[in-house]
Amino acid sequence: MRVLLVGGGGREHALALGLAGDPSVEALVAAPGNPGIAAVAELREVNSVDPAAVAALAVDTAADLVVIGPEAPLVAGVADAVRAKGVPVFGPSAEAARLEGSKAFAKDVMTAAGVPTAGAYTCTDPESVRKALDEFGAPYVVKNDGLAAGKGVVVTDDRTVAEAHAAECGRVVIEEYLAGPEVSLFVVTDGEAALPLLPAQDFKRVGDGDTGPNTGGMGAYAPLPWAPPGLVDEVMRDVVHPTLAELRRRGTPFAGLLYVGLAITAAGPRVIEFNARFGDPETQVVLALLETPLAGLLHAAATGALAAHPPLRWRDGAAVTVVVAAEGYPASPRTGDPITGADRPGVIHAGTRRDADGTLRSAGGRVLCGTATGADLAAARDSAYDLVRGIELAGSHHRTDIAAAAVEGRITIPG
Ligand code: AMP
Ligand code: GLY
Repeated sequence: MRVLLVGGGGREHALALGLAGDPSVEALVAAPGNPGIAAVAELREVNSVDPAAVAALAVDTAADLVVIGPEAPLVAGVADAVRAKGVPVFGPSAEAARLEGSKAFAKDVMTAAGVPTAGAYTCTDPESVRKALDEFGAPYVVKNDGLAAGKGVVVTDDRTVAEAHAAECGRVVIEEYLAGPEVSLFVVTDGEAALPLLPAQDFKRVGDGDTGPNTGGMGAYAPLPWAPPGLVDEVMRDVVHPTLAELRRRGTPFAGLLYVGLAITAAGPRVIEFNARFGDPETQVVLALLETPLAGLLHAAATGALAAHPPLRWRDGAAVTVVVAAEGYPASPRTGDPITGADRPGVIHAGTRRDADGTLRSAGGRVLCGTATGADLAAARDSAYDLVRGIELAGSHHRTDIAAAAVEGRITIPG
């Protein structure tokens, strides 16, 4: 089949490697792609949030499957426009993508579906903000209601910071704080049938020991040696199937990748957030372990044929990815610096570009990821850090503790 992949970050590089490795894929086009993706796909220019432009490109490239990576095109209705041309697309409609696009919508669906999540209020004025903060107490969780590329959430003990974030956002969701280790569970679904991928853990804060501001994600690992047995089955039963059923009931079925962000609390798994697409950088580790051909899986979800898909197959061992971020990330990343040491297997490109003379340069906040598999988590972690040590980018920084607590058996569920 011919596949068009929309997007150009680290997640899309990982998706491109998976799609290119599927023997059923005869041609892979990526738009806009990045220099890493260019090694396995033909790159085309496109404004990825312009539904008509992406739909036209799908027709022009004779795509049998369009895979949409990032959230912005989904929320803009790109999947709807591609589907309207009769081309199978992996990615939800704009209406269903509101599960990610609006925190308030997601809470409404969860309440209707009886999904376990943090108590929350949607607030638009300082008075209701103060009331909600009083009720839940510290630590305060204040979320921008709209899309904020993973950076619209403030978790803080500082009341002034919490109120200032609420004032800056306008419309916010204020939540009860959920204590416990976090899990990202990706579920491939055609709206009815649903197949979970391996659970992964992401590192949202910029600094070692979960310090500093939230980012899009600084590293990840999979699988989770500390996860309770039965976790995935429980989340499928209590979260995924009720949510999919509620969206079907509303006439807006969710087909694509349902990303369930969870906290494993003393009372059990609680949903922190839904996303409508693969997570970044968790995708880098989850797909590194997936043995089942990726294009066939996503095509089955895109065509309502997932119930007939064989069970997923996984490689033994573990995978770790470590993000190399630009100086100043996340507040104000510096771009345009030359990079060396990136042309090695396992180095995933996120925010990079290549000059006409071949020089690779930083072009975003999260620049590259060192991704490795190993017989166990410790071996995968060592190899991922070897890759990172080989990358030179002036002013760059990375976390040194990705997967460390899991390797050392230091992750516990409150109880
Ligand atoms: P979100 O964009 O909703 O995933 O939030 C980003 C990060 O903020 C999450 O990965 C958590 O680390 C943290 N967070 C969000 N909501 C809560 C909550 N209710 N309790 C504790 N931490 C949270
Ligand atoms: N890694 C978090 C996200 O993709 O939103």
